[in-house]
Amino acid sequence: MRIGVLTGGGDCPGLNAVIRAVVRKGVKAYGYEFIGFRDGWRGPLEGLTMKLDVPTTRGILPRGGTILGSSRTNPFKIEGGVEKIKENLAKAGVDALIAIGGEDTLGVATKLDSLGVKVIGVPKTIDNDLNNTDYTFGFDTAVNIAVEAIDRLHTTAESHHRALIVEVMGRHAGWIALHSGLAGGASCILIPEVKFSLDQVCKWVESRFEQSYSPIIVIAEGAIPQDGDMVTKDKSLDSFGHAKLSGIGEWLANQIETKTGKEARTSVLGHIQRGGTPTAFDRVLATRFGLHAITAVHDGDWGKMVALHGTKIERVPLASATSKLKTVDPELYKEAEIFFG
Ligand code: F6P
Repeated sequence: MRIGVLTGGGDCPGLNAVIRAVVRKGVKAYGYEFIGFRDGWRGPLEGLTMKLDVPTTRGILPRGGTILGSSRTNPFKIEGGVEKIKENLAKAGVDALIAIGGEDTLGVATKLDSLGVKVIGVPKTIDNDLNNTDYTFGFDTAVNIAVEAIDRLHTTAESHHRALIVEVMGRHAGWIALHSGLAGGASCILIPEVKFSLDQVCKWVESRFEQSYSPIIVIAEGAIPQDGDMVTKDKSLDSFGHAKLSGIGEWLANQIETKTGKEARTSVLGHIQRGGTPTAFDRVLATRFGLHAITAVHDGDWGKMVALHGTKIERVPLASATSKLKTVDPELYKEAEIFFG
């Protein structure tokens, strides 16, 4: 068997750990050959490949990013895209694909599966918003990066008696904000799932200053004020129809300064959350996903995604992972509210 492997969408730490595990077990346990497709779905679409074997995947476990490259290419937005993919897979002698990605990459995999392409999915994203898996790899690393930033911001906020705002990624899900805010002892956490009241945030800021302690506000890039709209950096959409988020932190700092008279500044963590080496948790999760994905290939269990349920890796239909976003339950958010203000 010859297996194609690709990584698509926003990169995250742990992608290389999956690739390494897939190849190592595929070669050693099943005698498979591999071919790497470059830059997400652009690889099979344009026939962009690279060698993938045990030697080319040595030493990559701790490396962030992806040795295969990534892109947000959507073959369903390209005339004849699916036919080109099928042709290129046949030309490269590829029997099946392992697609490592988030909602968009696996959304394409779901459609290709229904069109007869043999595909297995592996869930990745720092956003942790893929349905039917408890966690995606990349999330733990992003949260730890954000927590380190919040810890550092506490000390400088206190020195200068400022309100400091940390804008984190996560798109339309507040997982990174909620986890990093809780772990970092934020004075308030704002997530897309629960629209926030600006007046309430200002009250929390003031009450935190009254306790002679400088407030740290963790805000998700997709958070929305009760009487406003989501802030987007630019109005253009990517090929999956997503806006480029970011800017809400800056907006909030201006509002807080105007309404409370206190100095407020924003740090946007941005792509720092996606870079660098994965945490041990993400290395283990990514490795286990890779091992189970190649076993799913061996079993011919097409159209499935490997998923974490508790401590077990199980297989779920690809469609169940991509049909809706896994967002933060407002009840879970409520647990954190006791720490606000
Ligand atoms: O999905 C991962 C993610 O990092 C989101 O949190 C963020 O909104 C988006 O990707 C940024 O995408 P790009 O790297 O294309 O700017």
